[in-house]
Amino acid sequence: MENYILEMKNIRKTFLGGKVVANDDVTLKILKGEKHAIVGENGAGKSTLMQILNGLYQPTSGEIFLNGNKVTIDGPGDAAKLGIGMVYQHFMLVPTLTVVENMILGVEPKKGLSLDLKSAREEVKRVSEKYGLAIDPDAYISDLSVGMQQRVEILKILFKGANLLIFDEPTAVLTPGEVKELYKIMDNLIAEGKTIIFITHKLQEVLDIGDNITVIRKGRDVGNISTKEATKEIIANMMVGRAVLFNVKTPVVTLGEELVKIENLVVKNDKGLNAVDNINFSIREGEVLGIAGVEGNGQTELIEAITGLRKVVSGNITVGEVSCINKTPKEITLSGVSHIPEDRHKRAAISQFDLENNLALGVHKEKYSSNGVLNFKKMRKDAIELIKKYDIRPAEPDLVFGRMSGGNQQKVIVARELEKEHKFIIASQPTRGVDIGAIESIHNMILDEKTRGNAILVVSAELSEVINLSDRIAVMFHGEIMDIIDKKDATEEKLGILMAGGRLNEK
Ligand SMILES: Nc1ncnc2c1ncn2[C@@H]1O[C@H](COP(=O)(O)OP(=O)(O)O)[C@@H](O)[C@H]1O
Ligand SMILES: [Mg+2]
Repeated sequence: MENYILEMKNIRKTFLGGKVVANDDVTLKILKGEKHAIVGENGAGKSTLMQILNGLYQPTSGEIFLNGNKVTIDGPGDAAKLGIGMVYQHFMLVPTLTVVENMILGVEPKKGLSLDLKSAREEVKRVSEKYGLAIDPDAYISDLSVGMQQRVEILKILFKGANLLIFDEPTAVLTPGEVKELYKIMDNLIAEGKTIIFITHKLQEVLDIGDNITVIRKGRDVGNISTKEATKEIIANMMVGRAVLFNVKTPVVTLGEELVKIENLVVKNDKGLNAVDNINFSIREGEVLGIAGVEGNGQTELIEAITGLRKVVSGNITVGEVSCINKTPKEITLSGVSHIPEDRHKRAAISQFDLENNLALGVHKEKYSSNGVLNFKKMRKDAIELIKKYDIRPAEPDLVFGRMSGGNQQKVIVARELEKEHKFIIASQPTRGVDIGAIESIHNMILDEKTRGNAILVVSAELSEVINLSDRIAVMFHGEIMDIIDKKDATEEKLGILMAGGRLNEK
C-alpha cells in the first residue's frame, strides 16, 4: 500500500451552471513527503483543482481523502485545520503591516494581542530558522521584495500548521536567483517532513522540481509520470496531446543600419512616477533586441510609449528618420511600426468578431474599402491565404475569434501584424497563454523578420524566450536598463543578477 497524504478522486467542477467544465473527472494522488508537480497549459484547470483542495470551491462531484480519511473542506480555514496551506499567485499580505503582524492576521487570538505579537515574533524566528526562510520579523511588507513577500506567505501557512503546501505558479514573479532560493526552501520543507504540490506550466521547472508529475489537459488528468522517466518532449506531448518540436531556426543575417533609436526616454506610470527612467538603446536592421526583466519594471510603459499609447515626458524615439514622440497609435503604425501587444484581448482583437475580420482589423479602410464600400471578396481571399500561410486552426474564416484557442488567437494577431507594412515590430509577451504547440511557430515567424531586414523588439517575462530569440538582451529593473549583453555572453545567471538590480562587474 502506498502512503498517500492526499487522494482527490474523480473531481468534477463546473462553473456557470455547467457551461464551463474546469475539472472533469480528475484523480490526483500525492505521496507523503514528495514534491509533486501539476503541469498543464493555461486554462487546463490546475488552479481550480487546488482551490477545491483549499476549500475555496466545492467540487460538483468527487471525493477527497486526507491520510486515508474522507474529508469535506468548507473553506480555507477548514483547510488550514486539516494541515493544508496554499501560496497563491497573487499574495494576500497587508502591505502596511509588518511580517509578524501579517502572521497574526487570520490566526485566532488566544491571549491578548500584545502577548500574541511577542510569541508570534518568536515563532516567526523559530520557523524561519528551521526552514532557512531568512526574514526580518519587523520589516514592513511594503519594503520587501517580491521574493521576500513570498517567503512571508510560506511562513504564514507554516505558522498555521500546514503539512501539505500548495504553490500555484510560484516562480512567475521571481528572478532566476530567487527561483533557486525557493527551490532550496522547498528542499528544506521536504527535509522537515512536509509535502509539496507545485503548479507550473513551465517544462524545465517540472523537471527541476518534481518527484512525480501529474499532467492536466482541458480539465482532465491525462497521466502521471515520475520525473526520472520524464523529458520535456514527453511532458509537452502529454500537455497538448500531440508531438511538439522545440526547434527555432535563427536565420543568419548581416545587420544593417540602426533603425530604431531610443534616447534618454522618460515615461511616467499611472501613479505619476517614472516608470521608464532615462533609457537608451538602438536596434539595427535585421536585429532582435530582447528586453528581459521581472514584470512591472517599466516594460509595459516603455512599449506603450513607443506605440503611442502613453505620453512621453522627455527623450526621443525615432524609427528610420521619423520621430514617434507623442504621435497617435495610428500615425505610428503608418510610419512602419507593427505591434503584437501583451494583452491581446484589450488591445489587439475583438472577440465577438470572426477570424476574418480580426485579420483585417486596422486595415479595413486602407486595404479593403473603396468609396466607403468594403470589398468582402478580397477580404475573404486574403483571410484564406493568411490562415494557410500561418497555419491558423481551425481554418474557418467565419469562426468567432473568442471561440478559438489562445494559441491560434495569438497566431491571428501575429499574422496580421507581420503582414502590415512595417520595418519595426514590437512583440510583447508574444507567447503568453499560448499552447506550447504554437510557441515554436510564433517564434519562427518572429525570427523570419530578420531576413526582411526589419528591426525587432521582443519583451518577455520568460527568460528562455528572450535568450532564444534575441541577438542582444537589455535587462530592465526599476525603469532603467541595467545592461545590454550579447547573446553569446548571456546566461540565466548573469541576466538574473541584472534582473534583481545587481551589476555584473560588482562581484
Ligand atoms: N470562477 C470561475 N467562473 C467561471 N469559469 C472559471 C472560473 N474559474 C476558472 N474558470 C475557468 O475554468 C477553466 C480552468 O481555469 P483554471 O483552473 O484557472 O486553469 P489553470 O490554473 O490551469 O490555468 C478556465 O477555462 C477558466 O476560464
Ligand atoms: Mg492557474
